[in-house]
Amino acid sequence: MKTKITESPSIAARFIHRGEVVAFPTETVYGLGANIFNEEAVEKIFIAKERPADNPLIAHIFDLFQLEQITSGIPENAAKLIEAFFPGPLTLILPKNERVPSVATAGLNTIGVRMPKDPIARQFLRACAVPVAAPSANLSGRPSPTTWQAVRADLGGRISCIIKGDRTKIGLESTVVDCSGEAPVILRAGAVTLEELSEVIPQTRISSEADLSAPKSPGMKHRHYAPKAKVIPSPFPQYTVTTNSSAYIGLIAPPNAARFERILICEDVVEYARELFNFFRECDEMDVETVFCQTVDEEGLGLALMDRIRRAAYG
Ligand code: TXA
Ligand code: MG
Repeated sequence: MKTKITESPSIAARFIHRGEVVAFPTETVYGLGANIFNEEAVEKIFIAKERPADNPLIAHIFDLFQLEQITSGIPENAAKLIEAFFPGPLTLILPKNERVPSVATAGLNTIGVRMPKDPIARQFLRACAVPVAAPSANLSGRPSPTTWQAVRADLGGRISCIIKGDRTKIGLESTVVDCSGEAPVILRAGAVTLEELSEVIPQTRISSEADLSAPKSPGMKHRHYAPKAKVIPSPFPQYTVTTNSSAYIGLIAPPNAARFERILICEDVVEYARELFNFFRECDEMDVETVFCQTVDEEGLGLALMDRIRRAAYG
């Protein structure tokens, strides 16, 4: 298949109207979208990504009218979070309605909904005129793409169209919050932090291990975000023992910096989060064997960053 690469959201949206799949930038990572009401188009996402069929997709909406097309009622907690954080890097798990084909939600009676803030994503979603089901635009198991080139490397020739946008601003996937119970539960940490959510709903909590083993967020059990290289979380940069080809990413330079093939020192956690997945991909291109990732405090965005580093390290 020939993959059209375009800067035009409206040209890309025509592929959605024709039942094809399109990769598009958002503020978090690039997504791979299809018309959520077109079952065959949604199936193409799973085929292109080699995604397991039991891992549900997120519905991307342009405005709150589209929310009514896919959900059956908005719990009170969800309404508060929508008010506070939409559009933005937050996905809410809501009751779905019967119009949404079950292939999109892997048979669940809930659906993840997100309204992206990125201007190109918004132009694209407006032109699509339907909610767009989209996971991250990587091959299943690979780090999520933060550039259009990373999308092309994974999915070129497998999808109809890629929107050529900028590097994504945040670089980690959205915060996923389950709103079906009494209190909101964070199923996946992201750029909307526990602290920010707690300001709106103080009872918000992070999913425990027990919740994760239940089928609440099926995606959590699949291997994620992993480069080919071995990832080693590194609390003490001064004690990294390098192999023949090692790389390092963190906030403080290790004293033996010259021994690393590739090294990236970030100014703060925000930059670290933005760079992590791209760094993993660059290390793979250089056939790096071991990537040391300096650990950070698990507060604010640090919680999401450490979650992704641990997943890359331990699967
Ligand atoms: O930032 C993002 O969220 C990006 C951009 C493209 O929007 N998308 C993304 O999608 O990361 P994906 O499919 O790679 O991750 C979606 C996560 C998975 O862990 C999935 O299991 C969970 O959300 N999820 C989706 N629908 C769900 C549902 N109904 N119930 C529980 N978890 C759900
Ligand atoms: Mg993904």
